[in-house]
Amino acid sequence: MDHFLYQDGQLMAEDVSIAEIAAQVGTPFYVYSAATLLRHFKLFDDALAHSEHLVCFAVKSLSNVAVLKLLGDAGAGMDVVSIGEYLRAKAAGVSGDKIVFSGIGKTREEMRIALEGGIRQFNVESEPEMQALSDVAVSLGVQAPITVRVNPDVDAKTHAKISTGKKEDKFGIPISRAREVYAMAAELPGLKVVGIDVHIGSQLTELEPFRQAYRKVAELTEQLRADGHEISRLDLGGGLGIPYARDNNAPPLPIEYGAMIQEEVGHLECEIEIEPGRLISGNSGILVTEVIYVKSGEEREFLIVDAAMNDLVRPAMYDAHHDIVPVIEATPGQEQAPYDVVGPICESGDTFAKGRMMPQTKAGELVAFRSAGAYAAVMASEYNSRPMIPEVLVQGDQFAVIRRRPTFEDMINRDSIPEWL
Ligand code: LLP
Repeated sequence: MDHFLYQDGQLMAEDVSIAEIAAQVGTPFYVYSAATLLRHFKLFDDALAHSEHLVCFAVKSLSNVAVLKLLGDAGAGMDVVSIGEYLRAKAAGVSGDKIVFSGIGKTREEMRIALEGGIRQFNVESEPEMQALSDVAVSLGVQAPITVRVNPDVDAKTHAKISTGKKEDKFGIPISRAREVYAMAAELPGLKVVGIDVHIGSQLTELEPFRQAYRKVAELTEQLRADGHEISRLDLGGGLGIPYARDNNAPPLPIEYGAMIQEEVGHLECEIEIEPGRLISGNSGILVTEVIYVKSGEEREFLIVDAAMNDLVRPAMYDAHHDIVPVIEATPGQEQAPYDVVGPICESGDTFAKGRMMPQTKAGELVAFRSAGAYAAVMASEYNSRPMIPEVLVQGDQFAVIRRRPTFEDMINRDSIPEWL
């Protein structure tokens, strides 16, 4: 459920009209609903009420500092994968002891900044990383709290580019080698083992792959405890999927996910962490765009809109479906037509949808891509020298620009021409 609904024929974000924001901000832009973000966070928080827990929002899915502050103030922890994300979380007022640091390529510099600024735990993914982290911690006279990310070799049954828990993937340590890796961690003076981490992929639409992975983690917990390690925390990753199309079978709910977690690992009495991104942010945002032209091709009608693949790359990159809705609600009985919805970028991949049935649409009208809260703004680029587009946050009847649109000058002045040219 989200808060982008029609009221009197107008698409709203909570109590603010999208057309009104467009008039003030100009198109294209992303708009996020605070109520939806908070609601989704709370669904997870409630679903884990059975255990001591921390819901760590995956910052990579939507990293605007205002959004992080909103969620942080509501009690969320943060899952970060770079020091840039860490500094964003800190800038949003999240304390280091609620930030977990994931990712396979943390540099020594990143480790140092996180250790100095405070960190809940590092999720380490290789022996060389463990060694580096221990060295950095020793040089600072501290011990770094760690979990080891294990690769459970389960099929997440999701898009190949966002599946991470098979043995051929670059992530984690094979679970079969976990005991020897934990033995090594225990020997390193700069590390303090606190738990186990697992994350098998994103946009999972079934519970079964999670269940298989968590069962393996539960077995490993018992083995590692028998080996003398203190395993008091399980980081179970993110990945629960969202419905991208209104008419799809909906993925399992957070409450079902939470109950499954209790079934599989509850008996271990560990503190539970999860790292959801998409389910919190995905349907909390839309991308609003204006139709520049309607072009009749030989076989197709093209809606050429002012947003492009540089603003929302998911259709081009993962063949993802995003619902597209008019900002002025279609009237009952309004004629529908199939459109190819495309952006202005000079490659055919800049296509959001092919043959999409939509109410007949004219140049100058506004349409919105739904489910554009996660992995949209954060994956944007300036390809074709299109400046990044603004982000707007709505709460109740108020809205604010939370990232302004850069001017062309801002964009161009980042380049510099060497003296000798
Ligand atoms: N934790 C780790 C270690 C991750 O790698 C990810 C996502 C998450 C948590 C959050 O997963 P979520 O709950 O959002 O599914 N750009 C792609 C998605 C990439 C996901 C990468 N890792 C897309 O647009 O579909």
